[in-house]
Amino acid sequence: MKFYLDTGNVEEIKRIVKLGLVDGVTTNPSLIAKEGRVFKDVIKEITSIVSGPVSAEVVALDVDGMLKEAHEIAQWAPNVVIKLPMTEAGLEATHQLSKEGIKTNVTLIFSVAQGLMAAKAGATYVSPFVGRLDDIGVDGMKLVRELREVLDFHDLPAQIIAASIRTLGHLEAAALAGAHIATIPGSLLPSLWKHPLTDVGIERFLKDWEKVPK
Ligand code: G3P
Repeated sequence: MKFYLDTGNVEEIKRIVKLGLVDGVTTNPSLIAKEGRVFKDVIKEITSIVSGPVSAEVVALDVDGMLKEAHEIAQWAPNVVIKLPMTEAGLEATHQLSKEGIKTNVTLIFSVAQGLMAAKAGATYVSPFVGRLDDIGVDGMKLVRELREVLDFHDLPAQIIAASIRTLGHLEAAALAGAHIATIPGSLLPSLWKHPLTDVGIERFLKDWEKVPK
């Protein structure tokens, strides 16, 4: 499973890139707004740091508007991916962009049917939102598992980006459910590499090391 960082924060990306854990980056309008910077500047800087796919989202709700934004964003870097919402207009724009060879990520997927539609329209990536389904008492990971089965069963090449990942449990379950990619907020990462027994183990080794003749 690939790891994407779900952030618009360039410093965070630079820090995690050093660990070899960044296969790509996803952003959304909320994450970009947090940075207080010009959208184009943020995306261009991220694409210069990360060689993998970097998702940048359109905000228009109509097909012409989406395509206009998408064509502009697609000029910013060769590794940029156009993120579009799961709506009828989003599907039409996704289909058009796929015919033009422009990569797309259809976001805000909350059902198998939505994921299937996006994949059929030609999406490169489909993004089921696990945490937001859990928020309303629905098993978000079941969606990831079933979507993977459906895509494989019908030979659809779209890749699943498990999004809205909030916990270590989400991340591990996404890997087991067959998500091709998990997109993770930087704040979650330490909980992925930390374990109390690792800390205790280091402490014990260092204590014993003091007894070794020097
Ligand atoms: O990639 C989508 C993700 O950013 C949404 O996460 O935590 O706002 O539901 P969250």
